[in-house]
Amino acid sequence: MTDLRVNLAGVELKNPIVVPSGTFGFGREYGQFFDLSELGAICVKGLTPLRREGNPAPRIAETPMGILNSVGLQNPGVDAFIAHELPELRKHDVKIIANISGNTPEEYGGMCEKLSAAGVDMIEVNISCPNVKAGGLAYGTKPEMAAEVTEIAKKSSTVPVMVKLSPNVTDITEIAKAVEGAGADAISLINTIRGMRIDVNTRRPILKMNTGGLSGPAVLPVAVRMVWEVADAVKVPILGMGGVSKGADAAELMLVGATAVAVGTASFADAYAPVRVRDELAAYAEKQGLARISELTGAVKPW
Ligand SMILES: Cc1cc2nc3c(=O)[nH]c(=O)nc-3n(C[C@H](O)[C@H](O)[C@H](O)COP(=O)(O)O)c2cc1C
Repeated sequence: MTDLRVNLAGVELKNPIVVPSGTFGFGREYGQFFDLSELGAICVKGLTPLRREGNPAPRIAETPMGILNSVGLQNPGVDAFIAHELPELRKHDVKIIANISGNTPEEYGGMCEKLSAAGVDMIEVNISCPNVKAGGLAYGTKPEMAAEVTEIAKKSSTVPVMVKLSPNVTDITEIAKAVEGAGADAISLINTIRGMRIDVNTRRPILKMNTGGLSGPAVLPVAVRMVWEVADAVKVPILGMGGVSKGADAAELMLVGATAVAVGTASFADAYAPVRVRDELAAYAEKQGLARISELTGAVKPW
């Protein structure tokens, strides 16, 4: 049997499968389908200092092999998460990653202090949300701003800090190097790719916000390319995501350099997708004769 454990910046996951922010809520709904302890880690819906209602509907549009979303960080706020959601999640034997978005570096710092004290296992700093006006993507597209937010998050945290990168940039390695230089313990990628669809009958954009973020199988090749580029540019471990719906997809991201892999949009079509992907990945690893799944990380053979 292949040993499925992986170490993501000092956080030991029992297997490399993570559910990413925003596609799994706080685990309450999916917990009715399978035991959340089956997962390596749960990354919770993006948290902000105060409660947010998110963007107006329609905020989901289907696309071939994917979806466009403009949910806009709907969440109960960091304090309500700590009071009501974290204790429920803590009943399971699974690592908890808190994903945060702020309007200012200070807002990121304040949330890091609260979440570290509350005992999450890791903090994921979202500098890549395409669906909010302030913060989010503004920090993720400029190396100096990405570094500033990372520095404050690091200073304000007692747990490892992972920074989530946007694919909506010309050169993702510039941002990756900037956040590594500012002390990021790990990097996650990719967030969604900005897109737009039009209803040709009404001639209106399908999404009320006009544009949204593309995720699901359609984005896998972009994710593989970007993880490959970032793995070559930095030394910190990578949580790879974007379009994974099968064990072989997860293996692709690990081969190009990911230590762990998140399964997001696939859960909307198949609630068991994260567990199925874990089992398919384990079967592949055994067939490949691997003693440890971590042997896959970066093991792609260059031409
Ligand atoms: C409906 C929806 C909501 C999301 N919300 C967040 C969020 O709050 N914070 C964040 O960092 N990423 C968010 N994401 C991005 C995902 O975490 C992930 O990076 C992206 O969907 C690519 O992975 P996938 O193709 O497996 O879904 C969201 C994605 C979707 C589809």
